[in-house]
Amino acid sequence: MNRIEDIGYGSTLPLELIELTEGKRSETGEVDFLYKLVGAIKGKRLIDLCAGTGRLSIELIKRQARVFALEGSYGMIELIKKRCNDLPYDVASNLNLVIGDVCEIDYPKDIDAIIITDGSIGYFFHGKDLSKVLYSSFLSLNNGGILVLHLFNSKIRMKKDLVNKVRIRSEYHDERTKNHIIQYRHSVLDDKKGIVETIYENMFFYDEHLRWKQDSMMRYKLFSVDEVIQVAADVGLTLSQVYGSYSMEPVSKNSDYILVFFK
Ligand SMILES: C[S@@+](CC[C@H](N)C(=O)[O-])C[C@H]1O[C@@H](n2cnc3c(N)ncnc32)[C@H](O)[C@@H]1O
Repeated sequence: MNRIEDIGYGSTLPLELIELTEGKRSETGEVDFLYKLVGAIKGKRLIDLCAGTGRLSIELIKRQARVFALEGSYGMIELIKKRCNDLPYDVASNLNLVIGDVCEIDYPKDIDAIIITDGSIGYFFHGKDLSKVLYSSFLSLNNGGILVLHLFNSKIRMKKDLVNKVRIRSEYHDERTKNHIIQYRHSVLDDKKGIVETIYENMFFYDEHLRWKQDSMMRYKLFSVDEVIQVAADVGLTLSQVYGSYSMEPVSKNSDYILVFFK
């Protein structure tokens, strides 16, 4: 059994499994959304912050953007490099890998757009500072540059009747990764604000045939939209729009949140 103590750097899933399932995701919606916001992407300087497997970075360089993929996990970086090996040199050379803790490193400057997708900001608490990440983003954007944040909807991710309890065990099947997951989560509830913090921990993964398992620790916070907007405003970013999806639908109770800020 594998044990990962600090999941701030890496994934709770074995890399082989991520590699297998990753190809099944479509990046089109996210990338088309960026087109609508920044116009033609060709030649634009973009940051994919917490790039993970690089699924968005790769799609963006294929469309001739210049991309800086910022990522702290060496495993993920290896996956990105592997994917680049399959690309023609003139495409792959548009990708710059920046390895390190995004709360600590300097970001490249004169950037047209920064994306922080798939709820990645949930890692920035518990000693990792969201305001640092947003301030570094602010400094890195050029005038007119935008920051796109994809946040999970804490209200639909958590059943309200469960959140008052200190520790809840839940079990579910993830269709996308074909994993069976048992997880414990701890939530902090404020009477006025609702869920202010949710930490997932001790997640156990099984593949669909129960062939292996992994025991890991993940600390992840479901930030409220209001909190993120406040932190962004404090570092100087201006909220321009909140969407409920990458197809630019308005927010409904079932949607995630896509927040767009500009400098
Ligand atoms: C949800 S995954 C990335 C998803 C990716 N943006 C996408 O849309 O496919 C979050 C990534 O953030 C990385 N990460 C978490 N904390 C980090 C930190 N402090 N510095 C750098 N990378 C970090 C993890 O290694 C992981 O690859």
